[in-house]
Amino acid sequence: MYELFFNLVFKRMDPERAHYAAFRWIRGAARTPVLRTFVAAALAPRYEELRTEALGLRMHGPFGLAAGFDKNAVAIDGMAMLGFDHVEIGTVTAQAQPGNPKKRLFRLVPDRALINRMGFNNEGSEAVAARLAARKAVFKTVVGVNIGKTKVVPEEEAVGDYVASTERLARHADYLVVNVSSPNTPGLRNLQATESLRPLLTAVREAADRTVTDRRVPLLVKIAPDLADEDVDAVADLALELGLDGIIATNTTIAREGLGLKSDPSLVKETGGLSGAPVKERSLEVLRRLYARVGDRLVLVGVGGVENAEDAWQRILAGASLVQGYSAFIYEGPFYARAIHKGLAARLADSPYATLAEAVGAETRKAAQ
Ligand SMILES: Cc1cc2nc3c(=O)[nH]c(=O)nc-3n(C[C@H](O)[C@H](O)[C@H](O)COP(=O)(O)O)c2cc1C
Repeated sequence: MYELFFNLVFKRMDPERAHYAAFRWIRGAARTPVLRTFVAAALAPRYEELRTEALGLRMHGPFGLAAGFDKNAVAIDGMAMLGFDHVEIGTVTAQAQPGNPKKRLFRLVPDRALINRMGFNNEGSEAVAARLAARKAVFKTVVGVNIGKTKVVPEEEAVGDYVASTERLARHADYLVVNVSSPNTPGLRNLQATESLRPLLTAVREAADRTVTDRRVPLLVKIAPDLADEDVDAVADLALELGLDGIIATNTTIAREGLGLKSDPSLVKETGGLSGAPVKERSLEVLRRLYARVGDRLVLVGVGGVENAEDAWQRILAGASLVQGYSAFIYEGPFYARAIHKGLAARLADSPYATLAEAVGAETRKAAQ
């Protein structure tokens, strides 16, 4: 049914306009008590066996919404209503910024992919912090806060920019993510080099500890699939050295391999980050590599091309304690999270593992023996 609706309505609309239209419906439904109860009952059924504990947080399941969809934290309850077990808001930057000129979001429907060069359009950390402070949660869900660098701030001053966001946002975050991997802010991905990343993560950790004294806010870093394998290892080692809590793998890719056969070649040429099915293989590879290196010492979050329950299950077996999705939500629609939960519960029941936690990394461990 959603496929028909997508083809008749969304496909004819500009992708960004379609995004905001869907957003309005989701927010509207979440504000209407009877409707949200009905929708949540239908789309967010709870499976006891999928209950997840990660980053010291309890969740209904392992599957959440990746950053970028709800940049300004306006639809957390709406996304929870649709069955996402955690919602990562952002990327939020210290200063409000409009992002890149439109058009900046492109659908590559035959490839089940998106290209975006949104450029962190967001209201800035002050406004988002105020919204989170005033939020009266309807659904108890874990809220991750993803922060990035303001575009006009030079690379040499990046640390101060991230620290300003941390000081405003950490107290509202169940976990905090340092995003150094979006391809749409010039120079941002250079911060993944350990000599830049070490002072950045150290300063963010200190700022979080300084501003939130009643608990320890879990800190994660989000990396690009385009990192060379040695650089993935270097980030993993650094994360361990600095006592980080986890790594999110991966963001979108600047690569265009295997594209252009099905989708319009003029779309393939658009600059920006590619997400969805084409990034699946590399994201999974990066995750496996990370798990082989760090095992259970860090929480790994698997994201990139997770289209269905099988993909989510493969991420768990590869080493992900948590899994996220974005692009496939556009193509699969409101039943996306529900289908993943149902399929995960079935796969777990058919597997040799007694719990989801036991399944985490099982395939990667087996391959290493
Ligand atoms: C339109 C769009 C905007 C995004 N914005 C952000 C962002 O602001 N911050 C971030 O960390 N990731 C952002 N992402 C990346 C996603 O969170 C995710 O890492 C990536 O798309 C791969 O997952 P997917 O294949 O399920 O989409 C964005 C992705 C898309 C498609």
